[in-house]
Amino acid sequence: MILKVARLGHPAIRTPALAVDPAMITSPEFQRLLDDMVDTMREYNGVGLAAPQVHLSLQIAVLEVSHHPRYPDMPEVPLTYLINPQVSVMDSATMDDWEGCLSIPEMRGLVPRYKQLRVSALGRQGQQLDLVASDFHARVIQHETDHLKGEVYLDRMANLHSLSHLAEWQRFVYEPAQKRRPAAGTSDSD
Ligand code: NI
Repeated sequence: MILKVARLGHPAIRTPALAVDPAMITSPEFQRLLDDMVDTMREYNGVGLAAPQVHLSLQIAVLEVSHHPRYPDMPEVPLTYLINPQVSVMDSATMDDWEGCLSIPEMRGLVPRYKQLRVSALGRQGQQLDLVASDFHARVIQHETDHLKGEVYLDRMANLHSLSHLAEWQRFVYEPAQKRRPAAGTSDSD
């Protein structure tokens, strides 16, 4: 089932989420919620979704990047469930890149994020997960775990000068960058 997504301004987006009771993870209701979060993320072409974005104050995030229709060059991230995630930064160097958010529709901004981190969380069946993520994968995790603290990418921007409407960003940032890329292998001509 596709869930309604809260937008910036709804108090759910700014409310720190509560920890999940591990005993409830395997219940049918909780498992259905996880499925609904994945359905919702995919429906809106998100690369991640956090429970506060669907009006639930619970520390749950789902992530997946798989052949994004608009950004086919985006690195892939397997479908991952993070319940009660704890993040520790492994490389505090930061990298700037563009982000958007389903709760801040049609906008993009340049956000510095730590390059590498470690995440401890519970997985879909309540099992212990420990993973190290770098670069884009680490970025998605930072974006989603920020949602669990009631924070959004705007809070992480050095300033708002890069904040752009999506259509203008595509025109002035994304498309020029695509044109500058050297053609790789046999390129499609159009
Ligand atoms: Ni978001």
